Amino acid sequence: MTLTERDRALWEWAAGYLHVRDNDAHTLYSYGLATALVARTPSARPEIVLPAILLHDTGWSTVPEEDILEAIAPQARRPELVRAHEIAGARIAREVLSELGHDEADVEEIVEIIDGHDSRAEALSVNDACVKDADKLWRITPHGLATVQRWFGLDADEALRIVSARTHEHLHTEAGRAMAGAMGALASIELTAECAVLRAE
Ligand SMILES: [Fe+2]
Ligand SMILES: [Fe+2]
Repeated sequence: MTLTERDRALWEWAAGYLHVRDNDAHTLYSYGLATALVARTPSARPEIVLPAILLHDTGWSTVPEEDILEAIAPQARRPELVRAHEIAGARIAREVLSELGHDEADVEEIVEIIDGHDSRAEALSVNDACVKDADKLWRITPHGLATVQRWFGLDADEALRIVSARTHEHLHTEAGRAMAGAMGALASIELTAECAVLRAE
């Protein structure tokens, strides 16, 4: 798969805001997952979901880098910073999407999704559900698990346990739950003694 023409232009803007804390890689992996979710979720609209996922974390660029890990740690202590990145991301998304000539109603919907993508537990729509799931599903990808391990100094077992507790129960789409089940199963089997033997050979 590749980015569509429309989304490549957006990515060029978004990447400038995503250089902190692996947000650029997180965003691209989430874009891939969002594409798969949209394909399997009736009535989801790619022209909303995909731009929303590309821009959803641009607001972290306005939060001091040393505060970000504290804001997103397993026992998050800085909910006001999580809120701040949503508000800033919504503002950046409105500017970028308007500049690139996206449909006005679409811009409103994308901005509303970004403004609440972490702090709002419920999904406003099927499009919002796909964005939320693509964002969370990244955690359980090989890249997401390795990143969480590195950020918080966890071993692979702890990272999978913590990420699983924060992912499976919080998904909004059937497709997302199926994808999480498959990725979680792969991550678990890699932690078995039998896989360790194969790796050591
Ligand atoms: Fe976020
Ligand atoms: Fe995110």
